[in-house]
Amino acid sequence: MKKIVIDGNKELTGTINICGAKNSAVALIPAAILCDEEVKIYNVPNISDRDALLNILEHLNCKTELIDDYLRINLEGLENKLIPEDLSNKLRASYYFMGALLSKYKFVEMYFPGGCNIGARPINLHLKGFEMLGAKVTIDGNKYTISADELKGARIYLDIASVGATVNLMLAAVKAKGITIISNAAREPEITNVATFLNNMGAKITGVGTSEIKIEGVEYLHKAIIDVIPDRIEAGTYAIIGAALGRDLVINNVIEEHLEALLSKLKDMGVSIKSEKGKLIINKAKNLKPINIKTLVFPGFPTDLGQPITTLLTQAQGMSLFEETIYENRFGHIKYLNKMGANINANTASSTAIVMGPTKLKGCDVVATDLRAGAAMVIAGLIAEGTTRIDEIKHILRGYENIIEKLQSVGANIRIEEI
Ligand code: EPU
Repeated sequence: MKKIVIDGNKELTGTINICGAKNSAVALIPAAILCDEEVKIYNVPNISDRDALLNILEHLNCKTELIDDYLRINLEGLENKLIPEDLSNKLRASYYFMGALLSKYKFVEMYFPGGCNIGARPINLHLKGFEMLGAKVTIDGNKYTISADELKGARIYLDIASVGATVNLMLAAVKAKGITIISNAAREPEITNVATFLNNMGAKITGVGTSEIKIEGVEYLHKAIIDVIPDRIEAGTYAIIGAALGRDLVINNVIEEHLEALLSKLKDMGVSIKSEKGKLIINKAKNLKPINIKTLVFPGFPTDLGQPITTLLTQAQGMSLFEETIYENRFGHIKYLNKMGANINANTASSTAIVMGPTKLKGCDVVATDLRAGAAMVIAGLIAEGTTRIDEIKHILRGYENIIEKLQSVGANIRIEEI
C-alpha cells in the first residue's frame, strides 16, 4: 500500500509552478468530442483524472496523442458507445460525456459518474435541462439513457448555480436548433475556459462569467486549440502552505483575480502576500489571526479550499468559524486533524466547524478521505512535528500534479513509500 510520508515543520522556500486546472481540463477533454475535426489542448495537468478521461476517449475509438502537457485529439474515428460503469465511476467529470454525446449524436448511454464522496451530488439539474432541450431520459439502476429526435434551444433556469449542470447544458445546447438561455448559471472561471474552447471551434456562446449564458446552436464545429487555465485550487493550496511555512515562497503561473476570496482571507489572517505578474510571493505570518469563512459559489470562497484552509486555522491565535454551504459532507479531514492534536468541533448537521487555535500538530497515521481532505492532511503533515503517514493517497493524486516533487523542490521532506 502506497502512503505519503512527511517529516514536517520545515521552512519552505523556492518556486512552485502551477499546472492547468483540473476542473477545466476534465471538462475540456469531453467537450473536445463535439469537434468534427481535431483539437489541441495545451497545459493539461498530469493527474489521474486526466488518464481516466483518456481511457473513455480510447473506448470511444478516439485517437489521442499526449506529449507532456500537450494533448491532441482526433475525432475522425469517434464512435458513440455505451460508457461502462468501470470507466464512468472513476471520476465525477465523466458526466460531461452526457452533454457532449447527446449534442453530437442525440443519443448517449452511460453509467452514473464517480468522484469524491463529499455529499449526495445528484445530477437532477443536468437531466432536467436535457429534457427541456427535448431529450428523453431513462434511468435503469445506475444506467442513464438519454435520447432525442431533435434538440431545440430553450430557456433553462438552474435552481442551484451548479458548475456541472452549467457546463453539461452548454455542451448539449451547442448544436441544438435555435437559442438556449441558461439563467442562474454558475460563473466559475473553468466554465469560461470551456466556452472559449467551444467558441474557438465555431460555437456561439455569450454571457459566460455572468449568471445568464446565451447559446446559439450551430451545425458544425471545426478544429480548435485551447490552453487550460491555471489551477486556482492548486495555487490556493500552495498559498495556504506558504502562509504556514513559506519564506519567500513563489507560486508561479497564477491568475490572481481567480484567487481573490482566498487571498483576502489570508491577508486578514496577517499573511504577507506580494504579487508580481502571474506570481505570488508568500511569507508565513508570526501570529496568524483567527477568521470566519463561509464557502460560496464563485467569486465567493471556494468549497475546494475549505478543507485545506481548516488546517491553517488550527495555527491561528484564537477561535475561527468555518461554514460549508455547497456540500453536505466535507468534514472527512476533521477527525484526522484532531488526531494530530487540533481542537476542532465540527457540527456536520449544520456543516459548521469551530476551530480553536493555536494547537501544536504532531505527526501520526491519517487518511485522505477525499481529494481536498487529502490536501488538508498534506498541509497538516508539513506543519506537524514528527512523521505523518497519509493513507488512501489515490484521492490526492487524482487532482494534484506531481505534488511530491513540487513540495520536495521547495524544501519539504515528503515522499511516497510502499508500506
Ligand atoms: N447539485 C444538485 N443537483 C445537480 C447538480 C448539483 O443538487 O444537478 C448540487 C450538488 O450536490 C452540490 C451543489 O449543487 O451540493 C454544487 O454542485 P456543482 O454541480 O456546482 O458541483 P460539481 O459540478 O459536481 C464541480 C467541481 C467540484 C467543485 C464544485 C463547486 C468538477 C469535476 N468538480 O463539481 O470540484 O467542488 O464544482 O465548485 O468540476 C474538487 O475539485 O475537489 C471538486 C469537488
